[in-house]
Amino acid sequence: MASVLRSLMPLVALAGMALAGPKSCPSNIPLSCHNTTEVADTCCFIPAGQLLQTQFWDTNPVTGPTDSWTIHGLWPDNCDGTYPAQCDTSRAYTNISDILSSTTGGSDTLAYMKTYWKDYKGDDESFWQHEWGKHGTCISTLDPSCYSGYKPTEEATAFFARTVALFKTLPTYQWLADAGITPSSSRTYALADVQAALQNQHGAKVTLSCRGKALNEVWYHFNVQGSLQQGKFVAAQPDGAKGKCPSKVQYRPKSGDGGS
Ligand SMILES: *[C@@H]1O[C@H](CO)[C@@H](O)[C@H](O)[C@H]1NC(C)=O
Ligand SMILES: *[C@@H]1O[C@H](CO)[C@@H](O)[C@H](O)[C@H]1NC(C)=O
Repeated sequence: MASVLRSLMPLVALAGMALAGPKSCPSNIPLSCHNTTEVADTCCFIPAGQLLQTQFWDTNPVTGPTDSWTIHGLWPDNCDGTYPAQCDTSRAYTNISDILSSTTGGSDTLAYMKTYWKDYKGDDESFWQHEWGKHGTCISTLDPSCYSGYKPTEEATAFFARTVALFKTLPTYQWLADAGITPSSSRTYALADVQAALQNQHGAKVTLSCRGKALNEVWYHFNVQGSLQQGKFVAAQPDGAKGKCPSKVQYRPKSGDGGS
């Protein structure tokens, strides 16, 4: 696996050079949370290097498509289960929709977010601001100093684009359906079967959370080789015991019937 990663890195570096913005990274950067000595270049290495792509299954109220989980965020954890938060209030932007709609790539990201990155209270913009300010500003490779010819807010565009791209590789609804686990207002499922279905696809244990008995969140854990923007995400075991569900769980339909 490590040698496959290494052989891919020159391609990633080339792609980096073709883009204005974040600098390209050397190929010998260690995988995050796997360094044995200090890594000075935090534009190419994320010290809070366990990244969690977190997803919701919201049934009360319903958010998002009935056949898809939705995005919660992309969170940097320290490699020990703790996490940094609100790392740069000067970049806690309050205009995420405007930032994204002002660039071509960002507009595509924004259009996708409007369907798949939903706030249960109906205020998507505030939710995106919260996710960026609390978590995004703590990702070292998004620091303005990591960009050549930095244009204000471009790192936020990169954060949302990367989160959306990663989410698209983690189709929880489909993975569960493929294992015969579909929403039902009457059935329950063994938590171990839900875990096994997702773990088999992701390649590492996932974190599952419930509201009461009802399955409500899944967190996919990764380490990263290189930057958030252009590096390689590698499935990782959770860096701590998180989430809480009973051994038999409900997976309620998004039918709008009041859920739990
Ligand atoms: C890994 O690198 C980070 C960032 O430079 C550093 O803080 C940490 O101590 C390093 N870990 C080890 C085991 O050297
Ligand atoms: C968003 O706000 C930041 C300052 O917080 C500003 O620099 C930037 O120009 C704004 N972007 C847009 C597209 O309005």
